[in-house]
Amino acid sequence: MTLLDLTPDQLLSTTRAVRKRLDLTRPVEPELIRECVELAVQAPTGSNSQRWHFIVVTDADKRKALGEFYRQGMEAVYGFNAGQSKQPTPRDPELARKQARILSSAQHLAVHMHEVPVLVVPCIEGRLDGVPSARQAGVWGSILPAVWSFMLAARARGLGTAWTTLHLLREKEAAEVLGIPYEKVTQAALIPVAYTIGTDFKPGPRKPLDEVLHWDQW
Ligand SMILES: Cc1cc2nc3c(=O)[nH]c(=O)nc-3n(C[C@H](O)[C@H](O)[C@H](O)COP(=O)(O)O)c2cc1C
Repeated sequence: MTLLDLTPDQLLSTTRAVRKRLDLTRPVEPELIRECVELAVQAPTGSNSQRWHFIVVTDADKRKALGEFYRQGMEAVYGFNAGQSKQPTPRDPELARKQARILSSAQHLAVHMHEVPVLVVPCIEGRLDGVPSARQAGVWGSILPAVWSFMLAARARGLGTAWTTLHLLREKEAAEVLGIPYEKVTQAALIPVAYTIGTDFKPGPRKPLDEVLHWDQW
């Protein structure tokens, strides 16, 4: 296993949503995915419950099905998938450029989702439909840190990932394809994983810290 030469802070600040720079032609060794999941399960869970499961999908037909569900989810939420966006273009040219970049990146991933060599579906035991938010926090909080750890571990190994959720609009259908017991298990995300094209990534644009950082009160 070769790790990229990144400090912990560089790793934390350069793990981006990779869409256009996923290498669709290079296979990912199963051993690397195992290592990433092994690190992921060091994340915390409520009462150390560890009700997590990671479905690693490499089968071409299953990836094809997940890609299709993802595109359907994108169409349902944003009104586009592989084609033109129906979203209004902002008047501000800077905002319009930004939106065009995001749309182009999101569409690229949607078009190629099934070609990404590994798709990971992290799951948690239990269902959250109609559950009060305080309990939901405990359940989501017992899977999401592990998923982010997985993504950080992947980046350290030269792999790119992107957190995606749009396939969840077809969660039941995806559960059928993957043999997940839908009544008992919730899917949290769909994470495409591939080697990145180049390994240099920069910190992402974020709101000014003082807009979001609060000391002692809101
Ligand atoms: C909960 C969540 C859901 C997301 N869903 C999607 C998605 O369905 N498709 C997608 O292309 N990106 C998705 N993203 C990625 C975000 O768009 C991305 O993280 C954000 O634009 C910031 O970019 P960065 O991670 O490169 O800094 C999601 C991220 C999160 C945390």
